[in-house]
Parts: sequence; C-alpha cells; structure tokens
Amino acid sequence: MASSPIMMISVLSLFFIFTANARVFPRRSLLDDPPAVNNFTFVCDPSRYDKLGLDFSSFGFCDSSLSFPERAKDLIDRMTLSEKAAQLGHVASGVDRLGLPPYNWWSEALHGVSNVGPGTQFDKVVPGATSFPNVITTASSFNEDLWKTIGQAVSTEARAMYNLGRAGLTYWSPTINVIRDPRWGRTVETPGEDPFVVGKYAKNYVRGLQDVEGSENVTDLNSRPLKVSSCCKHYAAYDVDNWLGVERYSFDARVTEQDMLETFNKPFEMCVKEGDVSSVMCSYNRVNGIPTCADPVLLKDTIRGNWGLHGYIVSDCDSVKVMVEDAHYLQDTNEDAVAQTLKAGLDLDCGQIYPNYTESTVRQGKVGMRNIDNALNNLYVVLMRLGYFDGNTGFESLGKPDICSDEHIELATEAARQGTVLLKNDNDTLPFDPSNYKTLAVVGPHANATSAMLGNYAGVPCRMNSPMDGLSEYAKVKYQMGCDSVACKNDTFIFGAMEAARTSDATVIFVGIDLSIEAESLDRVDLLLPGYQTQLVQQVATVSKGPVVLVILSAGGIDVSFAKNNSNIKAIIWAGYPGEEGGRAIADVIFGKFNPGGRLPLTWYENDYVYQLPMTSMPLRPVKSLGYPGRTYKFYDGPVVYPFGHGLSYTFFLHNLTSAKRSIAIDLSNRTQCRDIAYTNGTFKPECPAVLVDDLTCTEEIEFQMEVENTGERDGSQVLLVYSVPPGGISSTHIKQVVGFQRVFLKAGDSETVTFKLNACKSLGLVDFTGYNLLPAGGHTIVVGDGEVSFPVELSFN
Ligand SMILES: *[C@@H]1O[C@H](CO)[C@@H](O)[C@H](O)[C@H]1NC(C)=O
Ligand SMILES: *[C@@H]1O[C@H](CO)[C@@H](O)[C@H](O)[C@H]1NC(C)=O
Ligand SMILES: *[C@@H]1O[C@H](CO)[C@@H](O)[C@H](O)[C@H]1NC(C)=O
Ligand SMILES: *[C@@H]1O[C@H](CO)[C@@H](O)[C@H](O)[C@H]1NC(C)=O
Ligand SMILES: *[C@@H]1O[C@H](CO)[C@@H](O)[C@H](O)[C@H]1NC(C)=O
Ligand SMILES: *[C@@H]1O[C@H](CO)[C@@H](O)[C@H](O)[C@H]1NC(C)=O
Ligand SMILES: *[C@@H]1O[C@H](CO)[C@@H](O)[C@H](O)[C@H]1NC(C)=O
Ligand SMILES: *[C@@H]1O[C@H](CO)[C@@H](O)[C@H](O)[C@H]1NC(C)=O
Ligand SMILES: *[C@@H]1O[C@H](CO)[C@@H](O)[C@H](O)[C@H]1NC(C)=O
Repeated sequence: MASSPIMMISVLSLFFIFTANARVFPRRSLLDDPPAVNNFTFVCDPSRYDKLGLDFSSFGFCDSSLSFPERAKDLIDRMTLSEKAAQLGHVASGVDRLGLPPYNWWSEALHGVSNVGPGTQFDKVVPGATSFPNVITTASSFNEDLWKTIGQAVSTEARAMYNLGRAGLTYWSPTINVIRDPRWGRTVETPGEDPFVVGKYAKNYVRGLQDVEGSENVTDLNSRPLKVSSCCKHYAAYDVDNWLGVERYSFDARVTEQDMLETFNKPFEMCVKEGDVSSVMCSYNRVNGIPTCADPVLLKDTIRGNWGLHGYIVSDCDSVKVMVEDAHYLQDTNEDAVAQTLKAGLDLDCGQIYPNYTESTVRQGKVGMRNIDNALNNLYVVLMRLGYFDGNTGFESLGKPDICSDEHIELATEAARQGTVLLKNDNDTLPFDPSNYKTLAVVGPHANATSAMLGNYAGVPCRMNSPMDGLSEYAKVKYQMGCDSVACKNDTFIFGAMEAARTSDATVIFVGIDLSIEAESLDRVDLLLPGYQTQLVQQVATVSKGPVVLVILSAGGIDVSFAKNNSNIKAIIWAGYPGEEGGRAIADVIFGKFNPGGRLPLTWYENDYVYQLPMTSMPLRPVKSLGYPGRTYKFYDGPVVYPFGHGLSYTFFLHNLTSAKRSIAIDLSNRTQCRDIAYTNGTFKPECPAVLVDDLTCTEEIEFQMEVENTGERDGSQVLLVYSVPPGGISSTHIKQVVGFQRVFLKAGDSETVTFKLNACKSLGLVDFTGYNLLPAGGHTIVVGDGEVSFPVELSFN
C-alpha cells in the first residue's frame, strides 16, 4: 500500500471521531483532559522515589510481601479525605507526597485500541493500531476462538502502547447490550440479539484482553494478574440512544423481572462469572425509575453480590451529572447523587462529580468514609493486578513492532472474511472466476468506503483497504459512486453507474448506511436504504451486462426484499463494517479465495416492523393488548427479510446425528417443591410441571454427537447453531433459544464428528413471569440450524 492516501485517511477519521464526540456527548470538559502520555514505568520503583526525594521503604503499599488488599488499605489509609476524593474521577490526580502519579482511567478498545478515550493517543510515536472489524461483523463468524484471539492481539497492542507512554491499562470495552430493537444506533458495537451468544462473545473477548497465560485459573481472584483490564458495558437495559427525541439521558426503561433476568442481565452475568471481567459500567438510562448507577440492587447486590465481581464499577461518562441535571432524579443535589451512587456500589465516576463533591457529601454526613475506602480499594486492587505498582508483568518488551504487525493485520482480514455473510447466491453465481470476469463495474456509495468500514469507537488504522482496492487485485475496475453520498439525495449520478454496468463483465454494487444514520445518540427511524440507493440498485441491475452482486455495509439489518426478489440480482453479501482490511476480505469472498461461513447474529425484519411498535416499548414478548409483535427470533415469528442464523456457503454440508441422550431423569430430594407454570388450555401438563433451578445440583448434561461432512468441492466452514425448544403448551415462553454453537472448518470431502455437551438446567431452563429460573418437565427438543438435525429430550422428575 502506498503511504500517502493512508495518512490522509488517518487524519480524516481522527477529525470525524472528535467532531462526532463533541456533538454527541455532554462532555466538552472531558475533551480537555491532560494528554495521555505517561513517562514512568511503574509506581513502586525505588529509583523513582529517590528522584522524588521520598523514603521508599516507608510506604507499605509498595511492600510486595503483602497482599493486594493489604497494600491498597495501606495506601488509602495514608490519604486525606480531599486526596481520596481526587482519585474518584476518571482523571485521578494522584498524590505527590505519596509518590502516586496521576492516572487516566478512560481508554477504549472495542475492536482495536482506540483514541475515543482520552487515556490513549496516537501521534508520531504510535501513528495507528490495528482496526479490527466492528463487533457485529466479528460476531457473525460465530467463532469463539477468533473472538478471544482478537482480544489477545488488541491487548498486546495496548500493552505496547502503554510501554510507549501512549495508552492506559484500563479499557472500557466490550459493549454487550443485547440488540432488542432493529433501530438501535449502537448495533454496530454489539454481538447481536441473542443473550447467550452475546455472553459468549463477552467471555472470550474479555479473556483475550485480560488473561495472562498460565494464571487464568488462579483461585484468589483479587490477585489474578491482568494483561489489561476490560469492562463490560452498559449495565443495564440500555438500548435507546435517541429515537425521535427520546434520548438515553432521561429514558426510563420499564422492564419486567423476567426480561431482566432472561435477556438484559444474562450477558453481564456471563461476562462476570465466565469472563471474570475486572470492571462493569452502569448506563445512562433509568430502569423502572431508578438510574442504574444509583441502584444498589443492580450494582451491589447483583454484580458484586450474586455474580462476585472482582473489580470496579464505573459510571458512563457524566452519568452521575446526568442524574442531577437531566433526569432530575429525586431532585438530587450533587451531594445526594454522590451519596446514592457510592452506597449503591459505584466506585468510579467518569466525570467530575465525585472529585468535586465527595468532600462536601461527607461533611454533610450523607455518606461514610467506609463507602469511599471501599471504592478506592476496588480501584487500586485492579491497578495492582495490572502491575501498575510493581512492573514485572512479562509485557515490558512489547513495543512498536507489536503494533500493526503483519500477523495482526492478517488477523483483521481473517476476521472480516469469517464475519462476511452470504445472504443470497442464485444459481451459484458466486464465486466469480477471475478468468471470466476481467472488467468489473464497482458502483454505489460504499464502493470506495474507507472510514465507513471502521465504524465507531475506532482508532487510527494501520492502513486502509477499500472495496475498490480489494477488487482491483482481481479485475479491471470501473468505479462510479452512483450517489453523492450515503444519504444519496441526488439521482443524477445513477446514470454513470448504469453506464459502467452496461459495459463491464459483472457489476458489484456497494450500498448501505454509516454513522450518519446509525450511531451513538442516533437511532434509525426506518430499515430502508437511504435516499435514491434503492433506485440506484434497481436501475443498475436492469441494464447490467453481466451478473449483479449486491454488497451491503451496515450494522443493523436493512429491508432489501426488493433485491432478494429481483432475479437480476444474483447474490447479496452483508459485510457489516469490516474494519481496515474490509475491501480485501470482500474481494476474497467474491472471487472465491475465501468461502463465506458467517451467519446473521440478528433478525433482519421487514421495514413494516418498525411501524408496529415504538422503540421505547421494552418487553421482548408480544404485547397483545397493544398489538405489539415480539422481539428477536426468540419471541417474533412474523415475516422477516432474513432470519437470525441465516448464511450461505459455496459448498454443501451433510449432517448426521450419531448419538444423543434423549431422556433426563432427575431425582428430587423430598424437600424440593414442584412449581406450577402456565400452560395454554387443552395441552397436557405434567404432574410436576417444573422445579426451581436453585433447588437442583444441575450436573445433568445433554450430550450428543453429529457427523458433519463437506460434500461439495470447496473447503469451507459450517456454523452449527444449537437451539432448545421448550415443551409444547407452555404459555408465553420463547419459541426457541440458542444453547450452543461451534464453527467447524472442513476441507472438501472431509467429515468430522462434533460433540456438544449442554448443561440441562442452562439449556432447558426458562425464566417465569415472576423472575424465577425454572426447569420444566416434559418433551423438549434440540434442533441444530434450520433442522438439519433434531431430536427430542424427555425431562422427568422422580
Ligand atoms: C484453566 O481452566 C480451564 C477450565 O477448567 C482449562 O480449560 C484450562 O486449561 C486451565 N488453564 C490452565 C493454564 O491451567
Ligand atoms: C469540577 O471542578 C472543576 C474545578 O473547579 C471545574 O472546572 C468543573 O467545572 C467542575 N465540574 C463539575 C461537574 O462540577
Ligand atoms: C438458474 O438458471 C436457470 C437456467 O439458466 C434458470 O432457468 C433459472 O431461472 C435460474 N434460477 C435462478 C433462481 O436464477
Ligand atoms: C477512494 O477514497 C480514497 C480515500 O478517501 C481517495 O483517496 C481516492 O481518491 C478514492 N478513489 C476514487 C476513485 O475516488
Ligand atoms: C445533483 O448533482 C448534479 C451534478 O453535480 C447537480 O448539477 C444538481 O444540481 C444536483 N441536484 C440537486 C437537487 O442537488
Ligand atoms: C417479494 O416477493 C414476495 C413473494 O413473491 C412478495 O410477497 C413481496 O411483496 C415481494 N416484495 C417486494 C419488496 O417486492
Ligand atoms: C448416520 O449415522 C448412523 C449411525 O452412525 C449410520 O448408521 C448412518 O449410516 C449414517 N447416515 C449417513 C447418511 O451417513
Ligand atoms: C427427607 O429425606 C431425608 C434423607 O433421605 C430423611 O432423613 C428425611 O427424614 C426426609 N424428610 C422428610 C420430611 O420426608
Ligand atoms: C382456560 O379455561 C378455563 C376454564 O374454561 C378458563 O377459566 C380460563 O380463563 C382459560 N384460560 C385461558 C388462558 O384461556
């Protein structure tokens, strides 16, 4: 790649990110944070103390023979109240007389190290970092190993940047809110609509960022070393950004206990319990009237109590301020808000309310010192686990060669390939054989996409490979944008695109949306292509000399029924927002160097869906009284453009169930009570309909094996999505739910036996309307994919 266009793009995307942020967030003050550049290696370095003229040996918090909580206590006990207060904002001031340097807690690494957080910066020393595909794209690979490997690559670059003084150690990523509504502006950041899949993504990405090889299983979680610290956000029930003027700062999500446990909390529970994440961020919105950051049931009782968080809880940026100024919660003063949130279990304020008002809150007697010390303890133990105090992490040698390495750039390309979803491929039109397609019309507003592929929370990429760049490697390209912009408000440019299509061997049309249509603080109002994009596609498809391929760049689903129906459009590809190497990945798929295997991690609804219910209606189940349909594949069975899990391949797979456990009998102790569950009238209800999952040991597993054979002529990957279907007749439960998945790569002609072991309670359980986890008796069904394999599982209690 030539270097001059790359530099230009870098500057452009930087500009874009900062203008977007300044407009979007109520946080102008935060953009003036001191620069990120650190100039020291670790706190407890004796020579540092010598230079500072301080007596190193007198500071117990530097005594490595003590435990981290003991050292944190020593440090906290040395601080005055005003010194303590000054450490509770994301810009922690440090304490000179203790040799404690300032620290900026806010860095981001959603799909690569990003400079959206002020704790990280790019400059001459580190001009860019690998920009992986956006999460919605990486999620489409349904490949847990890939998710973890990307986390490892990102944390390696983060550590290298830290060593160079350009980044922090605490990253407020990933975003793991479930996509409840197809209009949500932050769909791009998340792994889809299924709580289990989102939870598995969270676990793997968090472990990739945090785990230090060899110490994954340290039993004292307060001493488990961290490569970097990760943060699952935004907790909880956060997924309205700005929909027709309803905005997140004052939105009150009315949520049932059932939806809370089953959908909104589930990925966070998995993130904490399976990922052992070291931080959780509470959200801007309220849940049932209470700001999430001020709710002790959500924070102290659930995250720390029930799930056992070892780490700190941070507010979304300025959300404590938002409580006072936007939500006017309980007509709070700043001191009331400090007291409520500290008592609820919030440890760190991304903002300035804690640093400015903690002292006065204590003086007014609204909060005790114990709450403040607790918060500081949670913060310092994480910094100690990161080696911030002691160094000696094993990562000291990482540096410039570890950032934007060939290996990481190849991983970014591979992730984009694996996340590409082939939606339609009539008559096996794809892949193109390069010897038959020497000239390509490459048209549409995204045909030369660059920053659009980076999505949001991006940093500065190492380089950029646009669709034009990628396809030019395979054929002679005729480029026409066909629109003036993604908004495509001017139809005069369509003619040029038609002319290119008329005179080329094949046509690839790149359409879709970008951050001007779906973004943080910007929800969509419909699911259509903007402006004249649909006309562009239809007219180009009518006149094209060769076959037409439609490539869509977007995070949310687009109603492309018109293209699905149009027999002139032979193939449709969804590339999501594929990151810096996106063009290469798309071209490799079109020309068959790579066989696509991605699947939709979200339902693609018809546009009419958005007129059937407001975005602000939170229930997942249909609301019969208001005529609202259900949400996600779990509760919606109406017409769709493409369903959750859809995705084609250039090869064929045969599946054969070779063994399965078809019955599970659980012996109940004489103290276990049977619980009733509602059945629709006229269906059989077992004598003991269900029992509480908490009353069981739940060691029973559903184990099955299947043989998967690649019977086609191309190597390829098959995603096996395993669902459980509850016994017929149970009222208002899910239609089905994902309980496991694996991505299996098979060479042409090869077969492999794949084993699934599913915990019976986790896979067959349901949450009833009172919020209890129940295991229902009766005839469950396990289904793989669209029914390639299925078998019944009879569950009984003795
Ligand atoms: C940690 O435990 C997991 C799950 O039991 C296991 O798969 C992994 O190999 C263990 N890692 C180490 C380093 O012992
Ligand atoms: C906090 O205090 C600083 C310094 O006095 C001031 O500039 C800032 O506006 C204050 N912020 C808030 C949210 O009170
Ligand atoms: C596939 O090709 C055959 C033969 O050219 C044609 O009759 C048929 O309509 C095509 N099918 C589709 C779905 O394009
Ligand atoms: C494609 O985009 C890049 C970066 O914005 C630009 O330098 C280049 O000129 C564009 N190519 C065409 C053919 O417009
Ligand atoms: C559309 O673009 C053409 C060519 O640049 C321009 O002449 C025309 O005024 C534009 N039309 C509108 C409505 O902006
Ligand atoms: C697509 O085809 C189906 C079935 O023929 C039809 O019901 C639907 O209205 C068509 N949709 C569009 C947008 O053409
Ligand atoms: C499927 O597996 C069963 C049991 O191993 C075997 O008997 C059968 O021949 C297999 N069928 C196919 C089509 O491979
Ligand atoms: C329940 O079972 C235990 C052990 O089998 C027995 O000791 C106890 O008496 C039983 N209690 C009742 C109420 O039947
Ligand atoms: C089921 O039938 C009973 C008796 O006819 C009736 O009272 C009840 O309302 C019915 N329940 C439902 C959910 O239809």
